[in-house]
Amino acid sequence: MTQEKQPDTKSRSRRKVPIMPAVDFPHGARVEVQVGRVRIAVFNINGEYFALYGRCPHQSAPLSRGRLQGTVICNKETCWETKWVHDGEVLVCPGHGMEYHVRSGKAFGYDLKLRTYEVVVEEGQVTLVL
Ligand code: FES
Repeated sequence: MTQEKQPDTKSRSRRKVPIMPAVDFPHGARVEVQVGRVRIAVFNINGEYFALYGRCPHQSAPLSRGRLQGTVICNKETCWETKWVHDGEVLVCPGHGMEYHVRSGKAFGYDLKLRTYEVVVEEGQVTLVL
């Protein structure tokens, strides 16, 4: 009996999409990239690059135009005291103000998560890895 070999998805090469030279994408910059039919918002926050699905699931506002700030939490982990967290890493939707954590794509106050993408710098180019 011959056993069929399963495709090795880990070694499958991933598509790389160069965005722009890193020198042209400084801290605080953001850009919207279109890959096929998908728009992706890419941010440089203190030298770290983050990429998220670029449209808000509420009413499709372009998230690359959102403000970056922190947010207030008050829960069991903070002993029910209000605490300012994730300063500069909370993306506020320009549509109606939903807040997303740029690192994880998770929405604050809602059970949803934006897709995130890996970003690397290769040979001086900021590059999306899909
Ligand atoms: S479109 Fe983003 S909160 Fe409404």
